[in-house]
Amino acid sequence: KSIALVDIKGKEFVSDDYTNITPKIISYLGKNLHMQKNNPLSIVRQRIVNYFYSSFTQRGAPAFSIYDNLSPIVTTKQNFDDLLIPSNHPSRAKSDCYYINRGNLLRAHMTAHQSELLRSGLDNFLMIGDVYRRDEIDSTHFPVFHQVDGVRSQRKEELFPGQPDLEIFEPNYDKKNPHTFVNSIKDPMKQSCHTLEATKLMETQLKTHLISLTQVLFGESIKYRWVEEYFPFTHPSWELEIFYDNKWMEILGCGIVRNEILVNAGPTNSIAYAFGLGLERLAMALYKIPDIRLMWSTDSGFLTQFQNIDLNESVTYKPVSSYPQCINDMSFWLPENLTIDTFVSNDFYDLVRDIGGDIIEQVRLKDKFVHPKTKKHSLCYSIVYRHLERTLTQAEVNEVHKVIEKAVVDTFGVAMR
Ligand code: PHE
Repeated sequence: KSIALVDIKGKEFVSDDYTNITPKIISYLGKNLHMQKNNPLSIVRQRIVNYFYSSFTQRGAPAFSIYDNLSPIVTTKQNFDDLLIPSNHPSRAKSDCYYINRGNLLRAHMTAHQSELLRSGLDNFLMIGDVYRRDEIDSTHFPVFHQVDGVRSQRKEELFPGQPDLEIFEPNYDKKNPHTFVNSIKDPMKQSCHTLEATKLMETQLKTHLISLTQVLFGESIKYRWVEEYFPFTHPSWELEIFYDNKWMEILGCGIVRNEILVNAGPTNSIAYAFGLGLERLAMALYKIPDIRLMWSTDSGFLTQFQNIDLNESVTYKPVSSYPQCINDMSFWLPENLTIDTFVSNDFYDLVRDIGGDIIEQVRLKDKFVHPKTKKHSLCYSIVYRHLERTLTQAEVNEVHKVIEKAVVDTFGVAMR
């Protein structure tokens, strides 16, 4: 019996029933757009790093360490278990992540590195890199995007300097035997191990720091609001939204790190906050970049607009020109074993992007339909094709569309209508 292997950048993995990573996705590994000179993602990264370097110093040196070169191949333990994400949590679904096999995947968030860095003894650090998620296809979604995650930890003397009577932990939490404490998150205000004073002070610092960062990026007058959120790895948790382009847009998630995570990684006597922000969202808003695929452009008409600019200069992207769309529909009958509810649309989107590549601008579900007599299920998708740098002819689009149709038939066993 032969074992199927997946080769990822020269490293071999044994594939299994979870393997869903594709050659197209593997080709994005190592591109490191966040480190590419002139790429808007890299400019935003530098501005964020500068904010943390200049705002937090310890004995004259920057307090934050920066990790921007960690491998995106992680274990399910790193991406989920270490962060207390339950085994039945929807974010683990095969339909949402790029799995190499049951034990390994491309990280779905930079938080995947939090525990190992805490374990190595760090207390203040940023993790910056590419993350991978299966999602819909439109101008704001791409299977690869970039995040900056951060952790800031403090011990009693740092959080409450000169106030020895103030405590981080409730009296019944035993720092010597932290595993014996059952840490509850039932109280919406705080974790049961923490005092209210410590939690509130950390919450204030967290919000103050992230708002000043947002104001450094977008200017003092940026409109923002905090929204309560839930993350398995923080409590309490929030999202920050900014008012941009006439709507509220989420730019980051954050919260107070669950004490179990710190304890499992080592520190039993500190409290930490953590946050994760998306670089594409920030860059698109800051520079008015209309399509996320532009981040991957190697076209000089795009990159030269960000060349040698002063980091804090305000730049508005000028579309080189906008080329027309071609919209082709695809309708098909599902095979007996699938229904309009069990068909995994992310499987379809991945296949379309694998074959169509970067000329796929959008895929929209146009219609679902159950035939009243035959009870057969049918789906219709509109595929919007647009090249960012030239006009596509209808003839060449039809050709690509035909190849996609054939692959859809072969892969899902559907019948084109
Ligand atoms: N990992 C979260 C996400 O990708 C963001 C986050 C990071 C939230 C750290 C809280 C703390 O959405």
